[in-house]
Amino acid sequence: MGSTGTHILVFPYPAQGHMIPILDLTNQLATTGLTITILVTPKNLPLLHPILSTHPSIKTLVLPFPPHPSIPPGLENAKDLPANYVPFIMQALGELYEPLLNWFKSHPSPPSAIISDMFLGWTQHLACLLNIRRIVFSPSGAMALSVIYSLWRDMPKVDQNDHQLIFFSKIPNCPTFPLCQVSPMYRRYIAGDPLSEFIKDGFQADIASWGLVFNSFTELECVYLDHLRKELGHDRVWAVGPLLPPKYDAPKTKVRVGPTPVSVEGVMTFLDTCKDHSVVYICFGSQTVLTNHQMEELASGLEKSGIHFIWCLKEPTRAHDGEGYGKIPLGFENSVVGRGLIVRGWVSQVLILSHRAIGAFLTHCGWNSILEGIVAGVPMLAWPMGADQFTNATLLVDVLKWV
Ligand code: UDX
Repeated sequence: MGSTGTHILVFPYPAQGHMIPILDLTNQLATTGLTITILVTPKNLPLLHPILSTHPSIKTLVLPFPPHPSIPPGLENAKDLPANYVPFIMQALGELYEPLLNWFKSHPSPPSAIISDMFLGWTQHLACLLNIRRIVFSPSGAMALSVIYSLWRDMPKVDQNDHQLIFFSKIPNCPTFPLCQVSPMYRRYIAGDPLSEFIKDGFQADIASWGLVFNSFTELECVYLDHLRKELGHDRVWAVGPLLPPKYDAPKTKVRVGPTPVSVEGVMTFLDTCKDHSVVYICFGSQTVLTNHQMEELASGLEKSGIHFIWCLKEPTRAHDGEGYGKIPLGFENSVVGRGLIVRGWVSQVLILSHRAIGAFLTHCGWNSILEGIVAGVPMLAWPMGADQFTNATLLVDVLKWV
């Protein structure tokens, strides 16, 4: 289909779990004839390539990542930073307001709408100023978003007690969660603190946006989508998922198994030698780096169980405290030779999950992982770590009873 001339701006939050689904949406929108400009910072540009289609109506706008006193220079993606840096990334990106406004003003045919991530609430103010529509993209599911928006709208009083129970009485089929399992940004909210107020303002701006697009689908989250429609308006909430990455196997990519670099094909060859449904795939998403204690517990379980497994692990980056994270217990790799692969580096998860040898998926319950596990029809073991993952795990285990 040819271009209709309607131009939109797509602005992903720079984390792979956020970029993957919004890029799938972008690919689909490009085939409808829209002209799309996608905004990224320089270090995030290469991450687009395996996922973003080469459709001629998709252009990129590259703006420099604004410096931030708490973010080491050169790091522009959540995958390179510990989880507590998320508010700083959000704040840094807020500094793109002026450059983006200038770009709009100087463009001969600027976008007439913005689709931007839920962590970029300030784009709502830009859209208002430009008198255009802003649509929020939520990489999280509807249950998780119901919880997050309920927190930011109702602002329940929380203290420092991690075990304090938070009630979500307006949300149907929603248990109470202890404070330590709800949005870390809300937990850290301090009235009057500029960073806290910036984040609060962003989420409240999301709620006031023109509409919200979810990476979810009715059969999965009907109750929570209906709830959001009641709360936010029936014509403002759209479920367009599951949005999935392509099964890119990038054969030239080298990953490391033990100290040895192998190709991604090498990982698939290991799976080819295994019986149907005999391998546990273990992955905690694109950001989570396990503590040494978690590494020891998992390794010990794998050693004792005797099962076949693929463990894709994320190593600490220079922003982590190198001593406390990601250390594989001594002797573990030798003890599992022939039945276990420990993979360092990026192998396409959807590629692994679709292999006949996979029998279970041990996941941190990132929303993309949950959707990908469901689409692949693989039983999942939930080990939530943070962010929206406790809500996602509750949906998976207690509501959907997916085992
Ligand atoms: C985070 C949150 O956890 C999630 O709940 C939120 O909705 C988006 O941001 P992340 O922690 O990275 O994302 O997990 P997840 O949502 O599961 O996304 C990870 C993505 O990276 C998945 O699409 C997965 O297929 C892909 N991936 C990850 C790989 O392909 N290979 C890897 O080695 C690791």
